[in-house]
Amino acid sequence: MSIRNLVDFGDMSRADWEAIYSRCCDIMDHPSDYIDACKGKVACNLFYEPSTRTNFSFQAAMLRLGGTVFGFADPSSSSTAKGEKLKDTVKMVSSYADVIVMRSAREGAAKAASLYSDVPVINAGDGGHMHPTQTMADLTTITRLRGSVDDLSIGLCGDLKYGRTVHSLVKALAKFRKIKFYLISPRELSIPEYLRAFMREHGMWNVEVTGLESVIPQLDALYMTRIQRERFADPREYERNKGVYILTRRKLDRAKKNLLVMHPLPRVDEIAMDVDDDPRAAYFQQARFGMFVRMALLSDLANQARFSPPPVEIGRGPVCRNPNCITREDLYLPPLTKMQGDTKCCAYCDKAIFSDEN
Ligand code: NCD
Repeated sequence: MSIRNLVDFGDMSRADWEAIYSRCCDIMDHPSDYIDACKGKVACNLFYEPSTRTNFSFQAAMLRLGGTVFGFADPSSSSTAKGEKLKDTVKMVSSYADVIVMRSAREGAAKAASLYSDVPVINAGDGGHMHPTQTMADLTTITRLRGSVDDLSIGLCGDLKYGRTVHSLVKALAKFRKIKFYLISPRELSIPEYLRAFMREHGMWNVEVTGLESVIPQLDALYMTRIQRERFADPREYERNKGVYILTRRKLDRAKKNLLVMHPLPRVDEIAMDVDDDPRAAYFQQARFGMFVRMALLSDLANQARFSPPPVEIGRGPVCRNPNCITREDLYLPPLTKMQGDTKCCAYCDKAIFSDEN
């Protein structure tokens, strides 16, 4: 594998992904061959935001590989509560651990950490931006249960504005062929503009709709998501949109017999409990696949040699207007930008530099 950090699924080539997937399958089929794959290695889990699956599955993955884990799931018990900057926490922790797994409410936080870390950094979710290891769980689920990801019609339903798992999945699926996207959301929770531009640039077929039932019969996979309450600046926006999509067994009557019903979890009310026993419900398997694919990733990244990254410029202010961008808080970060088509974007959170979209 040729990657050092996993910040965005776009950092990987399709060949990188296929190498991880094939190792993941080998781990699932021969787990005893991997019990020492990370022997003597230590992961640090820095979880600045709540998590059950991602934190636990990374811990379980490292333990099953013979490694160990330390870290926190509550930043109020760390020096962050005393005002320590991300750069210092990362510099220090990377001198103790062999790999850092990080979740933050700030968009671009993992990218920022990767600039200072002597060991690989894995993005376990950065605000409403990206969540590449959930995407690995999603792709593993589709490939293992359907044979391939190419040529599928995929419905993404719910909060497409703030749902980072959706954003990562869209980025990843640019690497596959003939995907059709049905983007199902209320208008005010539609996909961010930078991803619309990304899909245009990559010639990805997609249609945006507000109704779920009319498109269900077309789909090979239906990816339900929770309305991301914690990301709404205006609580009234959440109140207007909560409970907007509820998948029930009755609604599945018109779906394909081999549909995959997926969800990154946790669910609130968007999938009724009576769907759990339908053979098309794949979300609990999806969570288990997530652990195996994280094992495949850790077995590579935790075994890489440590080295100090080259020094970076000291910034003087935020890179973009996104109020949740890491550069709004950590003003010393270098002013990194990138082009998305013709638009100049923040290299941390992907938002257009001069845009008011947030
Ligand atoms: C997701 C997340 O944290 O973005 N959960 C997860 O990692 N499995 C989805 C969510 O919180 O809705």
